[in-house]
Amino acid sequence: MATLFIAGASGYTGQALVRVASGTHRVIAHIRPGAKGDALSGELAGLGVEVDRSPWEEQALRERLSEIEPDYVFGLLGTTRARGKAAAREGGPVESYETVDRDLSLMLARAAQGAKRPPRYVYLSSLGADRPGGNAYLRARTEVEQALMSGPLPWTIARPSFITGPDRTEDRPGERYGALFARVGLGLAAAVGASGLRDAYGEMDGTTLARALLRAALDPACAGKVLEAKDLRRLS
Ligand SMILES: NC(=O)c1ccc[n+]([C@@H]2O[C@H](COP(=O)([O-])OP(=O)(O)OC[C@H]3O[C@@H](n4cnc5c(N)ncnc54)[C@H](OP(=O)(O)O)[C@@H]3O)[C@@H](O)[C@H]2O)c1
Repeated sequence: MATLFIAGASGYTGQALVRVASGTHRVIAHIRPGAKGDALSGELAGLGVEVDRSPWEEQALRERLSEIEPDYVFGLLGTTRARGKAAAREGGPVESYETVDRDLSLMLARAAQGAKRPPRYVYLSSLGADRPGGNAYLRARTEVEQALMSGPLPWTIARPSFITGPDRTEDRPGERYGALFARVGLGLAAAVGASGLRDAYGEMDGTTLARALLRAALDPACAGKVLEAKDLRRLS
């Protein structure tokens, strides 16, 4: 039985990973402090999952990770432009690809590195993070990937395409239309024999991705590897 610390456990992928791993492994679901996460925290605690509500502060996270001694830390967080605008309207701290997707993912890595027993960091990146161009979303992921690759912590990086499925409750038009577009285009491509394109660019639901992330974590051969969508599909 391995010990997993899942940051971003309230998200679509995070909740799927909690479900897939609990029962077989010790799962610590990290849900950021705040009333928004109270209901989910209660629900998960009722299912026997350990919930951690440490603040997003490096020292607090390092101390918790030193106590928990996880084998694997999963970084599954990210914001959207819509959420950033909502946070600005509410007058809260800036929420952007830089402050959340990049800086909190890097903070988690530093906290893990400073913990008593540094775990492997399984980082959920994205297709295209190796060629971000001027895209701020991809650039944030490139920077996290580069820091992990050049740092001392053991790591595994996952680069899925669209993560969506019928069980996704939040309305995310970008993913929905992107996945639909990809499904139609790639379906046509598969019909003419190019099924490899669908493996590389097609959508993946949260549970399929969660299975792949867990298997990647548990497989020593995946340490120091970048897993593209087709690799994740094979692992799931
Ligand atoms: N969706 C896609 O098609 C896709 C494709 C490739 C890669 N990715 C990347 O994969 C990751 C997970 O995707 P997902 O679809 O599972 O995401 P999601 O459902 O939007 O979940 C995002 C997670 O990040 C947390 N988070 C957001 N803002 C935060 C903040 N300011 N402080 C602390 N935590 C914060 C959320 O916590 P709260 O619940 O507390 O807000 C939630 O746990 C993201 O980085 C995403 O960009 C997504």
